[in-house]
Amino acid sequence: GASVEVDISGLAPGEMTTVEWRGKPVWILRRTPEMLADLKDMPDLADPESKKDQQPEYARNTERSIKPEYLVTVGICTHLGCSPVTLPEGTANTSVPADWKGGFFCPCHGSTFDLAGRVFKNKPAPTNLEVPPHKYVADTRLLIG
Ligand code: FES
Repeated sequence: GASVEVDISGLAPGEMTTVEWRGKPVWILRRTPEMLADLKDMPDLADPESKKDQQPEYARNTERSIKPEYLVTVGICTHLGCSPVTLPEGTANTSVPADWKGGFFCPCHGSTFDLAGRVFKNKPAPTNLEVPPHKYVADTRLLIG
């Protein structure tokens, strides 16, 4: 079928897993309280509340999620479709904003996204990472699609 059900009960805080949905990688990240706190005052985002792009209602907030703890997003760069990689907090290189709080980096043309999948300004990706349609069918069971 077009939907995928995922048991996320084994996901520890700070851990990310990838599932496939319609041939696309979907990332599920269980964010720690520290990660969530960092999202509140992230500077230089292109669209902090996801108002510009087509997104489900529940992605139009700072955390871009139904439950703040869990990010559910398609792991495909919104620029030209490359695969971003995870870059941990404290990574220091010229490709990421200063004082990097952790997030995703697209090696193709250098777009960077925070841990809510929000793209930073002055990067080629036109929109935040896509949040796929999903819902919780139980406390720790997700239905994607
Ligand atoms: Fe990701 Fe171009 S495809 S920055």
